[in-house]
Amino acid sequence: MKGRETMKAVTWQGKRDIRVEDVPDPKIQEPTDAVIRITSTGLCGSDLHLYEVLTPFMTPGDIVGHEPMGIVEEVGAEVPDLKPGDRVVVPFQIACGRCFMCAAGLQTQCETTQVTSEGMGAALFGYTRLYGAVPGAQAEYLRVPQAHYGPIKVPHGPADDRFVYLSDVLPTAWQAVAYADVPRGGTVAVLGLGPIGDMACRVALARGAERVFGVDLVPERLARARRDGVHTFDLRGFDHEKELVAAIRDETDGRGPDAVIDAVGTEAHGSAAARLVQQAAAVMPRTLSGPLAERFTVDRLAAFHLAIDLVRRGGTISLSGVYGGSADPLPMLTMFDKQLQIRMGQANVRRWTDEILPYLTDADPLGVDEFATHHVPLADAPHAYEMFQRKQDGAIKVLMTP
Ligand SMILES: NC(=O)c1ccc[n+]([C@@H]2O[C@H](COP(=O)([O-])OP(=O)(O)OC[C@H]3O[C@@H](n4cnc5c(N)ncnc54)[C@H](O)[C@@H]3O)[C@@H](O)[C@H]2O)c1
Ligand SMILES: [Zn+2]
Ligand SMILES: [Zn+2]
Repeated sequence: MKGRETMKAVTWQGKRDIRVEDVPDPKIQEPTDAVIRITSTGLCGSDLHLYEVLTPFMTPGDIVGHEPMGIVEEVGAEVPDLKPGDRVVVPFQIACGRCFMCAAGLQTQCETTQVTSEGMGAALFGYTRLYGAVPGAQAEYLRVPQAHYGPIKVPHGPADDRFVYLSDVLPTAWQAVAYADVPRGGTVAVLGLGPIGDMACRVALARGAERVFGVDLVPERLARARRDGVHTFDLRGFDHEKELVAAIRDETDGRGPDAVIDAVGTEAHGSAAARLVQQAAAVMPRTLSGPLAERFTVDRLAAFHLAIDLVRRGGTISLSGVYGGSADPLPMLTMFDKQLQIRMGQANVRRWTDEILPYLTDADPLGVDEFATHHVPLADAPHAYEMFQRKQDGAIKVLMTP
């Protein structure tokens, strides 16, 4: 700590305007805080929503990022289990571990950190004023509130890649699969093969799904999933979603998969036929101001509609992709008629991490050691955001090093 006054951090300055700036160092403010020196920090599909769609809820200068790991620098008086020098991964949500919701394994709903002024759930690092405007983790240092509960201690030795995904990608994929309720020997389709969808495929296979179907429209993402044993479908090869649905039904005795995981979310791309409708909807959140956008936003629902159509009758839809609209028209007739089960939400990180840790070994059954396609210095964040959003240069998962 000695001698530090300012640090480098990735800040949001406006729509598609991300800059690395010098900001004041974080300090311990509460006895339950810790400050960590970040050694690796992920770039997430959720950050891309901040880049454009969630602009109304950002303030210039906000520090972004929520997928950090690093070394404990300093702890408050009420953080008995951590000490300087410990190696930790920090969950993207801030939870107390003591309230009714945390006890129920719903850490995303933590009643201690809920952002009640905005009517939202647990506070998140670096994720708009809706989630508490907490300074984020794409920075050299991070103040971690509720540090008596959140940080996951991991051993020294292996590279950061082994553990860093415990902050978000792994528990999100894990929860997606758990919520999907795939029966043993059953089938699941994963829509979207970005980091979340890709990892959800791996988890589903590792946890006994008989067949996993993967859908995306980016060639290298499809190719990577195929290498893992996923039966992939390229959305671009179909004139209409109906044809894709028919192709996957053909593989499942005409019924459709037992479960569908939507790992796309609000910024879905559609087939040629669906594109026009989405383009119309996509304009809306951008032209409305904050309070109005909050009440009337419309998602691009292409992936969710595809999930409803695709899943077999009585099947489960598990939504990991983030949706934020409040005026979305949905095919309720079909949803009801098909007796669909829909489960969704941000991942409750600490609920799953003890189950996941045994998979993070030298044998590396989930392939975390080679999961990142890019390691870049934090100073290159603006380029990394652009590259990841445009899916250039084979970027699937980007880790930044302060
Ligand atoms: N629930 C959680 O806790 C949680 C945590 C992390 C991320 N997320 C969300 O999960 C989603 C995926 O995150 P990511 O990091 O993998 O992001 P990403 O943007 O890299 O992945 C999305 C993928 O979906 C593909 N896609 C777009 N439209 C499609 C369509 N109609 N059908 C099939 N695929 C389509 C894209 O080509 C891309 O590969 C995002 O919405 C993100 O916000 C949720
Ligand atoms: Zn994330
Ligand atoms: Zn709590």
